[in-house]
Amino acid sequence: MADNLPLPVRVRVTASPSLALLKYWGKEKSGINIPATSSIAVTLSGLETVTEISTDFNQDGKSSAGDQIIINDEPVSDPKIELFLRYARDQYPLPSQLTIRSRNNFPTSAGLASSSSGFAALAAGLGAYIRPALSGIELSALARAGSGSACRAVFGGFTRWIRGSEYAVPVYDHTYWEDLRILLILVTRQPKSTGSRSAMNHCSQTSPVFSSWIRENHRHEEMMLAGLQNRDLEQLGAAMRQSYLFMFSTMFTADPPVIYWLPESMAVIRACEKLRRNGLNVWETMDAGPQVKLLCQESETGRIVEELEKEIGPFEYRLSRPGLPPAVETCFD
Ligand code: PMV
Repeated sequence: MADNLPLPVRVRVTASPSLALLKYWGKEKSGINIPATSSIAVTLSGLETVTEISTDFNQDGKSSAGDQIIINDEPVSDPKIELFLRYARDQYPLPSQLTIRSRNNFPTSAGLASSSSGFAALAAGLGAYIRPALSGIELSALARAGSGSACRAVFGGFTRWIRGSEYAVPVYDHTYWEDLRILLILVTRQPKSTGSRSAMNHCSQTSPVFSSWIRENHRHEEMMLAGLQNRDLEQLGAAMRQSYLFMFSTMFTADPPVIYWLPESMAVIRACEKLRRNGLNVWETMDAGPQVKLLCQESETGRIVEELEKEIGPFEYRLSRPGLPPAVETCFD
């Protein structure tokens, strides 16, 4: 982008969430959202946060004092967003008053990484007001301050965020693994009770296995990088399983424990195990919420859905694949 471009009046960003295959779970003591574990993730096509930012008048045609934040059509005062805006304004000269409208086409705060797409979209939108334009890495570092996982969602395809780093890097684009599919199984539409931020801190402070989790991350990372490089779903899936189950071990052993799993989550995990025993290449993972995400190949997706239905009954799901980076549209008048 040319650095002498005028600033836009409105910006519209469409961003997709970042699903961790290797989990970020634990922070360094200093800095904002600096990860104690490396994570590797894929950006999910089809799931979208659309965020519009404008500097013109609000919907009544009057100017209002301060920022206006509207999420899924509800005006909200969201401390995480307000804190992030303060941080962004400390770093960059940004308009002092913004109207921000954001909408998700998937359940919000239900364990589908809506905070990653939400803050990636917001950071990319603010980026349109910053001169000179931010590099991908600078944008990633900005998004990180909103939510750690958002620093990966500013890129498409496969991303890596190395422990101790302020930003993620793209590893392979969305075309790298053409037949990889992600089945997102919605076991509930209810928002989760505990956010990832507080659960992560709580586990790091109270779980006696937390230091082992951090140590094992090195081994999981090597396994996963090899699986990704070889496009070997079995290798990647085995590493992914170790990572999510170890992460949950820190939750189960926290004091008091954090239990996101529902009976329905367990039913999917069990069914997935059975499908694998029956020769299907399907691997599950979970995040800070009850939803279960399955990785599989396009050619086996139909059969996997059919077999899962036999095991757990009808279920709601979204089918996704490695997705694109955020799309930014700007309007100057
Ligand atoms: O960055 P946050 O606060 O959305 O935390 C993300 C935590 C996990 O989703 C469980 C793991 C990850 O790497 O995305």
